[in-house]
Amino acid sequence: MILVTGGCGFIGSNFILDWLATRAEPVVNVDVLTYAANPATLASLKDDSRYAFERADICDRAAMDAVLAKHQPRAIVHFAAESHVDRSIHGPMDFVRTNVLGTATLLEATRAHWKALPDAEAKGFRFVHVSTDEVFGTLGANDPKFNELSQYQPNSPYSASKAGSDHLARAYFHTYGMPVMVTNCSNNYGPRQFPEKLIPLMIVNALAGKSLPIYGDGQQIRDWLYVGDHCSAIACVLEAGRPGELYLIGGDAEQANLDVVHTLCALLALHAPGKDYTKQITYVTDRPGHDRRYAIDFSKLHSELGWRPTESFATGLEKTVRWYLDNSAWVADVQSGEYKTWVEKNYGARV
Ligand code: NAD
Ligand code: TYD
Repeated sequence: MILVTGGCGFIGSNFILDWLATRAEPVVNVDVLTYAANPATLASLKDDSRYAFERADICDRAAMDAVLAKHQPRAIVHFAAESHVDRSIHGPMDFVRTNVLGTATLLEATRAHWKALPDAEAKGFRFVHVSTDEVFGTLGANDPKFNELSQYQPNSPYSASKAGSDHLARAYFHTYGMPVMVTNCSNNYGPRQFPEKLIPLMIVNALAGKSLPIYGDGQQIRDWLYVGDHCSAIACVLEAGRPGELYLIGGDAEQANLDVVHTLCALLALHAPGKDYTKQITYVTDRPGHDRRYAIDFSKLHSELGWRPTESFATGLEKTVRWYLDNSAWVADVQSGEYKTWVEKNYGARV
């Protein structure tokens, strides 16, 4: 079986659902269930004997040892992280704890597990560390896209903590020979994303008649990738990637934030004829240290493993809007409790 960390979050849950829809191999999901997790997301797997859930913190070495001893995975896909830049600005230490110390703890537990495997199994073992393009910092309008040789220049506590975890993952290959691979992906969007990130936030705010808060001038550029394409890229790296390598993953879909929000307003209006959601757009105080542009050159992944995205930004966004329209109960669920406090904290003081 394979072990996935953070499988109750956005990308991890999509990865598990896609994996079990196309493969027989079981999955164990290790997740501590932070605010970003919604176990209801995986309710459809409740009676699936190929799925197991372990509630545990990746910072807890004894818990990681116990999970590895119990399930004996042949591979680990490590998603668990604190993942939101704005939250890292308000509280960096949670990010250092989970992303750096948690990854270090998981790598140590994995090293012990891997060392104890018989030779043939140890050789075939894989650890995929899932990371972000934000570790490379920011691009100017005319700079070439990030590639595997780009320098690490993280600018936010989030990206700095992910960079720390990437360096640890790399070191475990170089020092111990553990078969680790790192993937650095651009911004994801799609079903089951927590509505603190741009695209789901704009969809749920638009539908609720709330403002659509654009940071600064809205001309920051992200390279958007549909989550299903990210999951297929990770599966490719897991099955055929070379240990010790870095693989960049992107969508070839650079978009300015303001354009993304206008496209969303137009898509939503198709379901509410006559409604003009763009009237809800408001410009608010910019994010401190806001990266201007991210863009990914994924030619290594394409030439080595044959991967490319299957969704365009238009088709992916349409699917995403449809999912949020059809899943208002899921949205209501994740908006209860802590979410209101976060909205007040992040948007209350912005003008
Ligand atoms: P998410 O915030 O939606 O989910 C994170 C999950 O990890 C949650 O289920 C949470 O409960 C779990 N988790 C957090 N701390 C934990 C801990 N200490 N122990 C166990 N579980 C813990 O995140 P996401 O958007 O799905 O991102 C997943 C991974 O992909 C992250 O490593 C992130 O850096 C990376 N990534 C995300 C994007 C993106 O656009 N969302 C892009 C590139 C890379
Ligand atoms: P986000 O989804 O938080 O991802 P990241 O910061 O990791 O790229 O934000 C995407 C872009 O959208 C980023 O440039 C910040 C901007 N943004 C807004 O303009 N308003 C918002 O309310 C949010 C959450 C993000």
